[in-house]
Amino acid sequence: MTSRQVTRALFSGVRALRTSTIQQIRQKCTSACFNCTNARCLSLASTASQQHALKELQVPETSLISTNVSKDSSVRVKFSDGTESDIPYVWLRDNCRCPDCYNQEAMGRKYLLTDLQVDVQASDIQSNDTTLKIQWNNGHVSEYPSEWLHARAFTPKARALRRNVYALPKEPWGADHRLKEFDYESMKKDDRILLDWLLTMETKGSAMLKNVPNRDIAGPEMIEHIAFVKQSHYGPHSPVINRPNTNNVAFTNAKLGMHNDLPQYEQMPGIIFIHCVEQHIGTGGESVITDGLFAAEILRKQHPEYFDILTKTDSYFWDKGHANFDWEMAEFYKISRMPIITVDNNKQVKQIAVNNAIRDSYIDLPPEKVKPFYSAMKVFNDILYENSVVFKMDSGDMMTLDNIRCLHGREGYEAFSKRHVESSYLDWDEARCRRRKIQEKLGLLLTK
Ligand code: OGA
Ligand code: ZN
Ligand code: ZN
Repeated sequence: MTSRQVTRALFSGVRALRTSTIQQIRQKCTSACFNCTNARCLSLASTASQQHALKELQVPETSLISTNVSKDSSVRVKFSDGTESDIPYVWLRDNCRCPDCYNQEAMGRKYLLTDLQVDVQASDIQSNDTTLKIQWNNGHVSEYPSEWLHARAFTPKARALRRNVYALPKEPWGADHRLKEFDYESMKKDDRILLDWLLTMETKGSAMLKNVPNRDIAGPEMIEHIAFVKQSHYGPHSPVINRPNTNNVAFTNAKLGMHNDLPQYEQMPGIIFIHCVEQHIGTGGESVITDGLFAAEILRKQHPEYFDILTKTDSYFWDKGHANFDWEMAEFYKISRMPIITVDNNKQVKQIAVNNAIRDSYIDLPPEKVKPFYSAMKVFNDILYENSVVFKMDSGDMMTLDNIRCLHGREGYEAFSKRHVESSYLDWDEARCRRRKIQEKLGLLLTK
């Protein structure tokens, strides 16, 4: 078989995998699926069973013990656990649970902002330990279960719990970090192990799967088990081999500096799966990884002026080329624009985008700002390497990294090596979605 035939066979493998996964979902969900736990099943029976499961997960009752009109725009609510919160009228009106305002099945608001008065007033407020009942000045009546209200109260604790359901706090690491290991088949079979991997990826941004089957599509198979593959113009998975007529520096035998994959996409893939199918024998092909979050905090502290440059300067990343395999886009021409370090509204590091091969030669800066920009990139690169971890994967190892936080690189290797790595991606939305669904199933979700 030529390498083109091999990779064509791989791709049809992924296609078959996807088709069979879809068929499994359909079979499961068109038959009587009262116990269906498939998150993507939309049958009424499944929705009902999920709702039932939700009821079972409810935390011990928190009753409402008193209400007081505190200001003209909110009501002060005291709960049986001692917490108190001002609850703004505008929020209460917006979140009325009645069937006119809220669709219970769809779990979504029907009430429109067009109809909302920001200075809405209550004409009557009544409460008992289970319910807060408000009549609004236009006569509409809303009722709020006390537990529902308690979870959403504007207290530091309630807000922090929801933040943790959204995303877990990240735990930065340095050169002494050891990757937590997971057995590939066990992770596929046992949702508790999968949950452990998902939690590890959210907190540490890195893990190693061991005993991965020697199949080129083992990465996509695991990703399909979790959710679905994030594709790029390179298709659902990429053979990282020394390709003739290559379309990416990664697909050669060259040394790769510390990088994130695919910053030429404005939505960079969230998690990268790097599967070592066959390692180079002898020196070469070693991996290096680092925590971009850890390095960015050092940069912020030790070189605030460079941190400022890297968070406030947009870079272009580009990728122009042609398909090497028939599952790749025939011709592509991507350009993205973003800072090397993105921070959020709380000044927390949200994303790192470093990739020397993909960074464009166009720079949208006046000439006097170019040299300081390079100085900032160099210092950040040094910090990334100073805090890195070096190791060599064996065949059957699959490194998984938070691709918008951690960076990886590889040593060069001999041109005619049999080294074969496969890369594939999963998005963070899907990974966090799966984490919440498993937590919900196991009764571990902090808020509903
Ligand atoms: C890549 C890459 C790692 C390796 O393809 O982007 O980083 O070990 N590969 O070859
Ligand atoms: Zn209503
Ligand atoms: Zn890479």
